Amino acid sequence: MAPKKLAAGNWKMNGLTASLAELDALAARDNGCDVLICPPATLITPAVAHAGEIAIGGQDCHAKDSGAHTGDISAAMLKDAGASHVILGHSERRADHGETDAQVSAKAVAAHQAGLVTVICVGETEAQRDAGETLDVIASQLAGSVPDCATAANTVIAYEPVWAIGTGRTPTNDQIAEAHALMRDTLSARFGDGADVGLLYGGSVKPGNAAEIFDIAHVNGALVGGASLKASDFGAIIDALAKA
Ligand code: 13P
Repeated sequence: MAPKKLAAGNWKMNGLTASLAELDALAARDNGCDVLICPPATLITPAVAHAGEIAIGGQDCHAKDSGAHTGDISAAMLKDAGASHVILGHSERRADHGETDAQVSAKAVAAHQAGLVTVICVGETEAQRDAGETLDVIASQLAGSVPDCATAANTVIAYEPVWAIGTGRTPTNDQIAEAHALMRDTLSARFGDGADVGLLYGGSVKPGNAAEIFDIAHVNGALVGGASLKASDFGAIIDALAKA
């Protein structure tokens, strides 16, 4: 089983009820590959009703099933709301909330137990790249954030260089290829089905650069922020992936 192509949109803290019209437009398209939208938690249940074949996911979950954790959301709650996926360990969670690899791994275990597919994010800061630490950072985040229960069926990995997120800057094709080859080798060495785990690139993916990025070896799709908010932009990215 080869990794499945996945075009994933992370709406981050964007989206009100009116944004569901974008989902209607995406759901009405002939997409030609798997599509996932992760809206804010407030929109998960209504999004499912607008999504058609498009999968809906959360952007984070707590490692516990329930309890005294004001403001948090559990994996079981996401599942109950209609989500099939959850993004974990996004660099904005790691930076804004101090999330560690161990916490991300614990959240992933909880998500898998709840029956969710996890999209686990890794990626270096600009300072780490400048210091030549990129591959070490990715390897160490993979080792710490991806739990032993990960399989190709329940886990997707997104390589998102922190400095490429929302900046309009992207790594060179060779830099993306190097990171994805490392991830493929690392996962293949650790997991029996590691060769089949989907690997996404994320960070300033736009309609204008998507086709080139999807041509790179071991890039099985994208995790898209800003360009996933408009169905016209995201649709062009989906088409580029379907054709790749
Ligand atoms: P942008 O596509 O806006 O750079 O965001 C990428 C991202 O962080 C997706 O999770």
